[in-house]
Amino acid sequence: MTRVVGLTGVTKEYAGGVTALRDVDLDIEQGELVGIVGPSGSGKSTLLHIVGTLDRPTSGSVEIAGFDVAALSDRELSALRARHVGFVFQAFHLVPGISAQDNVAEGLLYSGLPRAERRRRAAEALERVGLADRARHRPHELSGGQKQRVAIARAVVGDPELLLADEPTGALDSASGESVMELLHDLGAAGATIAVITHDTEVADRLPRRVRLRDGAVVEDVREDVRERVPGDARAGA
Ligand SMILES: Nc1ncnc2c1ncn2[C@@H]1O[C@H](COP(=O)(O)OP(=O)(O)OP(=O)(O)O)[C@@H](O)[C@H]1O
Ligand SMILES: [Mg+2]
Repeated sequence: MTRVVGLTGVTKEYAGGVTALRDVDLDIEQGELVGIVGPSGSGKSTLLHIVGTLDRPTSGSVEIAGFDVAALSDRELSALRARHVGFVFQAFHLVPGISAQDNVAEGLLYSGLPRAERRRRAAEALERVGLADRARHRPHELSGGQKQRVAIARAVVGDPELLLADEPTGALDSASGESVMELLHDLGAAGATIAVITHDTEVADRLPRRVRLRDGAVVEDVREDVRERVPGDARAGA
């Protein structure tokens, strides 16, 4: 088992005296699909930012993809993120006015690959999320669910070890949300390590592992072997 995320005793205090995370220990192994749940303000986004190295903890240690975050400069952290981490947000954050394919290619901007190769890989990633036929559409010509799938394609186009999603279904109707979650399950079955924040208990209940936060502390961390509970499920053999 390869550990992709290792948090030990992580505390995050914001200026103004808010303790957003308290002494959090969290290990995530390669290939895990983990739901992060908990009430509003419990520290979920803060946790995701720290796991994604967008922010540093006040104390405690963070190891991502084998790197000790404290030992890296901000520049080195950006490079680590570009190579190893993909992000998906509730509000998509697509670049307006450029095609779906070019949006996905943005995910490879810092890869050093030539533009033609970035666009080729972007086309492949769009195919993976079922949107090959929308490659030339600009964001305003896509539905919400399609925008989120473009955002996921952008997040995974560089084959990151770790995919982090903050309420990826929050802005979607239930059918689009369902297809986005299916996509995350498929990416997980293909070996990606995924942490996804969700308020939706139905979504959370179907994830193989759930980490629950309350007041910045982990109060529950349960794993269920979904594959064993659902015999005949297509994912069982993957
Ligand atoms: N930049 C900041 N400066 C100061 N306090 C912050 C900052 N960001 C978050 N907080 C506080 O930290 C706590 C945790 O916030 P966080 O955004 O992690 O919660 P969350 O679980 O993601 O909530 P939600 O479900 O509403 O998105 C909250 O009390 C919040 O007010
Ligand atoms: Mg949040």
